[in-house]
Amino acid sequence: MATAGTRGALAREKLAAMTPGSRALHERGSKVLPVEVVPTFEMPSPIYVRSMEGARITDVDGNTWLDLTMGAGPHVLGHRPKVVEDALHDQLRRGWHVVLHNERQVELAELLADAAPMAERTIFCNSGTEATMYGMRVARAFTGREKVAVFDGSYHGAHDYALVKADPASPRHAPTGKVIGGGVPRAIGDDTMVVLPYRDPVAFDIVRARKDELALVMVQPVQNTVPRDDSGPWLQELHAVCKENGVLFMLDEVVTGFRLGWGGGMAFFGLDADLATFGKALGGGMPIGALSGRADIVSLLGRSWTDPKGVFSGGTFSGNPLSMAAGIAALGHMQANKATLYPYLNTQGARLAHAVNSFCEERQIGAQLLNAGSIFYMHFKRGIDSSRDLADENKDAEREFYVNLTAKGVIVPGIHLFFTSAAHTPQDIDTIATAFQDALMDTREDGFL
Ligand SMILES: Cc1ncc(COP(=O)(O)O)c(C=O)c1O
Repeated sequence: MATAGTRGALAREKLAAMTPGSRALHERGSKVLPVEVVPTFEMPSPIYVRSMEGARITDVDGNTWLDLTMGAGPHVLGHRPKVVEDALHDQLRRGWHVVLHNERQVELAELLADAAPMAERTIFCNSGTEATMYGMRVARAFTGREKVAVFDGSYHGAHDYALVKADPASPRHAPTGKVIGGGVPRAIGDDTMVVLPYRDPVAFDIVRARKDELALVMVQPVQNTVPRDDSGPWLQELHAVCKENGVLFMLDEVVTGFRLGWGGGMAFFGLDADLATFGKALGGGMPIGALSGRADIVSLLGRSWTDPKGVFSGGTFSGNPLSMAAGIAALGHMQANKATLYPYLNTQGARLAHAVNSFCEERQIGAQLLNAGSIFYMHFKRGIDSSRDLADENKDAEREFYVNLTAKGVIVPGIHLFFTSAAHTPQDIDTIATAFQDALMDTREDGFL
């Protein structure tokens, strides 16, 4: 840990002096809240946000920070884009919740299908978590098989089935599943899920060998903690193997949808799928999730559960007019500007990664900024191919780096997955790159790198 006078100690003192209001709220909040939001978003020093605009957030003490949280991904256009704000105002004047159908559901589903032509039918829900849950359930019902395969290093939300991860003690090429955290029945890991190795051709053999048990293979085109843009050929082959063996193939596009490109990971990597999940950017910053795909599969969720083929779905706020209105406004803008928006996001993403990585290489710093377009994760180790390489990274350096970075006015959420947006100007990207380089040097000066 930092000792008096070190860069880390000075950064901590600076943050404490800047944020008395946030600290007071943190102390007050700790009497009623177990944690700020969820543990993965905790900052080195509590920062309570009052307002957001473009690429910046302002806290309760009046400090303005350059934001790389982007709401955990949804804000592809930055905070409070005018088109979305206007659409929300307009919808507020008409009412914000009804539960009966509203015309905006049709419009948003049509826009989604324009981006992802495989989306013959879409069912809306309120989060990516619900979307992946429905994807698994409907695949089991459709195929009559019970097992779902996910990959080591994946994240598919917070429901019980999504909490089966690769047991770190299991072999890299033959991972076994293990539920994480308390309260998740072990039987879910043992009896219903299969864990496959990501970016590893061995996964194809396991799918072939277990085809009679598997309802679904669910995969992220880009993984959150190891974002890479070179998994295309492997993903294409995985889809082909699933198709040959009668196993449904689902892409989890909750992060990549409308962020990697208008057509998400599917278009970026040239993929097709039976099912796909969306969330985050789809709602223009309002809560949303969606399961889309083949009409014969997704339509089972539209039948009553009393029908022998019906699959249960529910949700008071599913398809609510505010989320629909914000999503239509955001997607409408993305669709109209896709020719410039996505090249901009992906070019600036590559520029930031290059600035940080060449700096690390020149100075032989043991860190690497991985990115796929505007999706980033910084690792305190070099030569990372998959999540299995992360076990021995330099966690002390990571902790100190983020203290130093925050003190330079750049916010990365506690999970350390971060995003840029259309609102980040080239000058903002330069400022961020310099802050990363300076924070790396501070961390090195304190002996952590
Ligand atoms: C790939 C992926 N799938 C699903 C989810 C769950 O989405 P939500 O947080 O909206 O429940 C997330 C959330 O970060 C995600 O990254």
